[in-house]
Amino acid sequence: MLLNPKGGCGKTTIATNLAAYYAGQGFLTALFDHDAQGSSTRWLEMRPESRAAIHGVAAFQNPIGVTRSFQLRVPLNAERVIVDTPAGLADPHLPNLVRTADTIIVPVLPSPIDIDAVLSLVEALRRVETVCKYGVRIAAVVNRVPAYRSGLKPLEMALETVGLSVATRLRETRRYPRASARGIGVNELGGIGRERCLDDWRPLWAWLENGKGHEALTPEHQSRPRLFPDRVAAPA
Ligand SMILES: Nc1ncnc2c1ncn2[C@@H]1O[C@H](COP(=O)(O)OP(=O)(O)O)[C@@H](O)[C@H]1O
Ligand SMILES: [Mg+2]
Repeated sequence: MLLNPKGGCGKTTIATNLAAYYAGQGFLTALFDHDAQGSSTRWLEMRPESRAAIHGVAAFQNPIGVTRSFQLRVPLNAERVIVDTPAGLADPHLPNLVRTADTIIVPVLPSPIDIDAVLSLVEALRRVETVCKYGVRIAAVVNRVPAYRSGLKPLEMALETVGLSVATRLRETRRYPRASARGIGVNELGGIGRERCLDDWRPLWAWLENGKGHEALTPEHQSRPRLFPDRVAAPA
């Protein structure tokens, strides 16, 4: 689940790129779009038929004659489920949605406003019982990193203070809007700079896959980045 109530930090970009990556790897992949703006859904509509198929669920829609649980059903054979969420997500929607996730990625931009937003988000997550209790895996992805990686220090220090690990840093590049406009991921876009761009993704793919399976959710497991309960004291 891509989560950050701040708009424009890269939720849709990371959701669609992960979906393209997993589908390309041969996994049956579903992409849930909870944002009424429908950006992930539009991306999927643009996706060329020649590319690996992704099962889209426009979760923000409320079609007449269809129950909510039927609309939100996860295809039985889905192997990877990516959930894009809207900006401005707050109580009670945030905890309700978060409860359905086993892994949370928080995209964050290296700007002062975004630092404040991510600290509030961590506070909100600390109040969600399932996150504290079952050690849902969570990591930040620092997005739109400038070429010289300047200005990252304040953000990374703030993340460390609240115990949020950084799964990877994605550089700022035109490849993202270019791929997005064609319904593909940066892994499906050729040209100069492809490998360098994908190098940014490898740590995230590895982090996601190393934790797959049930053992990822047991609080006893200390070896992988988790926000709760070993790094941050859960509320009394
Ligand atoms: N690493 C990046 N480099 C360049 N542009 C980016 C990058 N990440 C996101 N963008 C662009 O920033 C804008 C906002 O990203 P988006 O994923 O839609 O954010 P959110 O879903 O959190 O609102 C989009 O136009 C997207 O193409
Ligand atoms: Mg979005």
